Amino acid sequence: MDGMIVLAPMEGVLDYSMRRLLTEINRYDWCVSEFVRVSDVVVSQKVFFKEVPELLEGGTTASGTPVWVQLLGSRPDIVAESAMVAVKLGAPGIDLNFGCPSRLVNKSMGGAAVLRNPALVGDVARAVRDMVPPEIPVTAKIRLGWDDAAEAPEIIRNLDRAAVSRITIHARTRNDVYTPGTVKWEAVQPLSELTKIPLIINGDITGPDSAREALRLSGLQDIMVGRQAVSVPNLERVLRTGAEPMTAVASLRTCLSFEEILSSRMAEHYRKARIKQFLGYVRKARPEIQDLFREVCLREGLSEIIAVLEDGIRNPGRYSLDACCSE
Ligand SMILES: Cc1cc2nc3c(=O)[nH]c(=O)nc-3n(C[C@H](O)[C@H](O)[C@H](O)COP(=O)(O)O)c2cc1C
Repeated sequence: MDGMIVLAPMEGVLDYSMRRLLTEINRYDWCVSEFVRVSDVVVSQKVFFKEVPELLEGGTTASGTPVWVQLLGSRPDIVAESAMVAVKLGAPGIDLNFGCPSRLVNKSMGGAAVLRNPALVGDVARAVRDMVPPEIPVTAKIRLGWDDAAEAPEIIRNLDRAAVSRITIHARTRNDVYTPGTVKWEAVQPLSELTKIPLIINGDITGPDSAREALRLSGLQDIMVGRQAVSVPNLERVLRTGAEPMTAVASLRTCLSFEEILSSRMAEHYRKARIKQFLGYVRKARPEIQDLFREVCLREGLSEIIAVLEDGIRNPGRYSLDACCSE
């Protein structure tokens, strides 16, 4: 595909270390950080550095991919001032989260809850757009609506008036959460006719076939990928260049590289959890790692877990890893 491919924000999964890993392997056009919560006070420099450590390194991952800072909040003035703090710290772009379905977040009028008030979506976006310098892109990430895609046209019109740079649409409603089979790429096509602002299609893109179908049905050119970008660590290369999806053994090697990145940043306890989380994602695309994954889950110590990974790489037959698996 020729369009842009953006690495999605994923709270608790696509953090600094995972962004670094995946942008070393791929050439994503940009990444979006996990959301930074904006409540009643302007977000401090300290919080931004903790949540988006790339801001200490020029606003890009180690391999140079820009990391846009995502903000989640519904008070236009406070979100705008927080955006300005992030920009002063070097954020190359600001993304606004209007899609998070978490009950806790929604209860305090954050994420997808704002979609129930389309005027407020526009107000937050306008305030941020007016506050930050014009050369810094301000984007919005939305769902089709709260419980009905009928809400989407008004949201799009308000974002159009706010003059955001791009709008990413996760083609589900909030009440669809992540339920399989609920994504509606075709619902995005009529929305694209309401605005000249470029839209990005997101949701359930897992490989070349689904990317083609999502682009055909939505009529768009650009995509954002999340969960499958972790499951297939070279997904951008697969989509852009037609490379083969990473094999099980190569994914294990990638897991060791991940552990190396984590080792300089986290205590052992967290590293074990992150390795298991990563392998859990890989298993969705590569079910043949199941036996090895079970072995990893049985191990207590980090060094034992690493030994299992190394054993899988050296002796793939022992864990039935040579089976082939497509998209
Ligand atoms: C564990 C998890 C965490 C997420 N965190 C965020 C987030 O911080 N901000 C956001 O806008 N979307 C978040 N999302 C939504 C994703 O960015 C994306 O819209 C969604 O997963 C659909 O795309 P996919 O099918 O390519 O994964 C999250 C999704 C998951 C599964």
